[in-house]
Amino acid sequence: MTDSDDTMVSHNTGPDDGIVNPDNPVGYQRKTHPLFIEPETIGTTVDFQAIFGNDHPVELEVGSGKALFLRNAAKERPDHNFYGIEIVRKYAFHGADRVKNLGLTNVKIMPGDALSFLKKVPDRNIVTAHLYYPDPWWKRKHHKRRVFTTEFVSDIRRVLVDNGQFLIVTDVADYFEHVQLLMTEFPEFQRQPEPESHEPEHDLDYLTNFERKFRQEGRPIYRVAYLRQPR
Ligand SMILES: C[S@@+](CC[C@H](N)C(=O)[O-])C[C@H]1O[C@@H](n2cnc3c(N)ncnc32)[C@H](O)[C@@H]1O
Repeated sequence: MTDSDDTMVSHNTGPDDGIVNPDNPVGYQRKTHPLFIEPETIGTTVDFQAIFGNDHPVELEVGSGKALFLRNAAKERPDHNFYGIEIVRKYAFHGADRVKNLGLTNVKIMPGDALSFLKKVPDRNIVTAHLYYPDPWWKRKHHKRRVFTTEFVSDIRRVLVDNGQFLIVTDVADYFEHVQLLMTEFPEFQRQPEPESHEPEHDLDYLTNFERKFRQEGRPIYRVAYLRQPR
C-alpha cells in the first residue's frame, strides 16, 4: 500500500482479511513494532501512561484505517498522545509502520474491535474521540453492525474527560441522521459548531484517507462535534 493508495476496502469478511478474532488470539503471528500494540499486552485495564511513557492527554481514533489522521494530528500536536483502534489487523500494522517512518513516537495503533477495547479504558481517560467515515453497512439488515450504537456512545461518554470532545465525520447522509438522532439520547453531549475543514494543499493534507477519496469525488461531507459536559 502507498499513502495515496485508496484501494482499501472495508467490510471485507473473507478468511484472509486480518480481522481480529477475539476467540482466536493466536491465529496470527505476533508482531514486534514500537508503535503497534498487540491486544493481549494491554491486560484487562488500559494504562495509557504506561503505554506512552508519559501522562500527556490521549486522543482516540476509532477505525484508524491507513492512519493518515493519526500521522497528521500527531505531528500537529506533539504534546498529545494518539491511540488508534482498527479492527483489520493488517491496516493497523501498516498504519503503525507509516507513522513510525516519520519518527513520531506519540502514536500507538492496536488491532481490535472498538467496543471491546472501550470496555478496558478507565473513566475520564480520553480528551478527544474521533470517528471518521465509519463503515456505513448500507443494507438495513446490516445496520446492527454499525459501530455507532447506544452502547458505543455510552462508553465514549464514560471515557471522555469533562469538556472532552467527540468528533464524527461521514459522507453518508443516512448515517449522519442516525448519529444526530442517537446523540439526542445523551444530554451530557452538547452539540458544537460544525468543525471547519480547509482546502488541502497537497495529497496528504486531508483529514483521513477516505476523506481525500470522497472530497476528490465531490461527495457531500457531514461533520459534527459534541462537547462532553462536566459531570
Ligand atoms: C470506511 S473506513 C475509514 C477509515 C479511516 N477512518 C478513514 O477515514 O480513512 C472504516 C474503518 O473502520 C474500521 N472498523 C470498522 N469497524 C470497526 C470496529 N468495530 N472497531 C475498530 N475499527 C473498525 C474498518 O476496518 C475500517 O478501517
